Amino acid sequence: MSEFAGKLNEILNYGALNLAIAIGYKNRIFDILEDLNKPVTIKEIASASKLNARYLKEWLGVMVSGKIIEISTNPNEEDIYLLPSEHALYLTRKSESNNMGVYTQEIPLLTACAMESVNEGFKTGEGVPFSKYPDFQQFMAETSDAKHKKVLINDFLPSVENGQLLNCLHEGIKVCDLGCGQGVALNLMAETFPNSIFTGIDNHEAAIIEARKAAQEMNLSNANYLVLDAAKIIQKEEFFGLFNYICAFDAIHDQSYPLEVLKGIRAMLVPGGMFSMVDIKAGSNQTDNINHPLAPFLYAVSLMHCMPVGLNNNGTGLGMMWGQEKAESLLKKAGFEQVEIIEMERDPFNLHYFCKIPSFLSVEFTVP
Ligand SMILES: C[S@@+](CC[C@H](N)C(=O)[O-])C[C@H]1O[C@@H](n2cnc3c(N)ncnc32)[C@H](O)[C@@H]1O
Repeated sequence: MSEFAGKLNEILNYGALNLAIAIGYKNRIFDILEDLNKPVTIKEIASASKLNARYLKEWLGVMVSGKIIEISTNPNEEDIYLLPSEHALYLTRKSESNNMGVYTQEIPLLTACAMESVNEGFKTGEGVPFSKYPDFQQFMAETSDAKHKKVLINDFLPSVENGQLLNCLHEGIKVCDLGCGQGVALNLMAETFPNSIFTGIDNHEAAIIEARKAAQEMNLSNANYLVLDAAKIIQKEEFFGLFNYICAFDAIHDQSYPLEVLKGIRAMLVPGGMFSMVDIKAGSNQTDNINHPLAPFLYAVSLMHCMPVGLNNNGTGLGMMWGQEKAESLLKKAGFEQVEIIEMERDPFNLHYFCKIPSFLSVEFTVP
């Protein structure tokens, strides 16, 4: 077999493993195996998980041959299965920041939602509406939950402006999370900084309903949510000069009209206000990303979701891998004169684009 044919063989196996791991993750089989914490029979797994033994057996075939789960035999000559602890570390909900199991769901989920529409898009060039991705917001909330809990409060916010933002948040400022989805980040911030007032903006009504529900369950009186198309903000003067700090996590590259959205963000800031755009770390040219350890995965997510949703309504369709050069240039075009691009140690796949607008309007005097 040629080297390339061998590679294709591996791709077939790894693609299949990705799908089966996603099914195992969704059905909490890894969590259950971790809790059982010893080699167990299919019957024991079925009983602990309340899942069908025949389906489990076929799934275990994938896991055993894929060397995710170990097989041996008990004294009764029955097959018994063990999830090694070093594998559980990356596959269960307890894994928190190490959790890679959650991400295995992404490609199968996007395939189920959008395969046909994306195939159609290849012919027509049209976008794919957000409504085609009914389960994606929930998935985003799940991944954001792990990510934001890991870095947002303890690492990210304290790093902004060398801790100055943190002081302001404790004292009390007005904050907006643009493209807030189900409000995971916003609710966490509102809980941590009770003196500040937080407004989440998203055009996905169902996501905002979930965000409001979560805020209510957390008894947050300082978290508000608006269903709003961020591209329209620039036309609404009532939104101008409202916020001291605006953040947009993983949200700008999905926009149909990113320049209008960034102009709206600029307009919503008070003088001296700050904006953090956190977006994927990549170069704007495909050749820049050849050695990126996750590039095929990220481009595929973009192909199946970010780019087609960004193409809606004749939109720009930036795609997730729009890259640093394009991002910086768009921020500048939107009026953010100074853009600081910051690497984040605990979030190595994203970049923090930090923008601060002047605290007063500078007037240039010319000596006559
Ligand atoms: C990839 S998700 C990120 C969600 C969230 N910030 C997080 O970190 O989990 C992008 C979000 O941008 C929202 N969005 C896309 N276009 C929008 C628009 N024109 N106006 C407001 N929100 C928009 C989507 O509904 C989605 O919730």
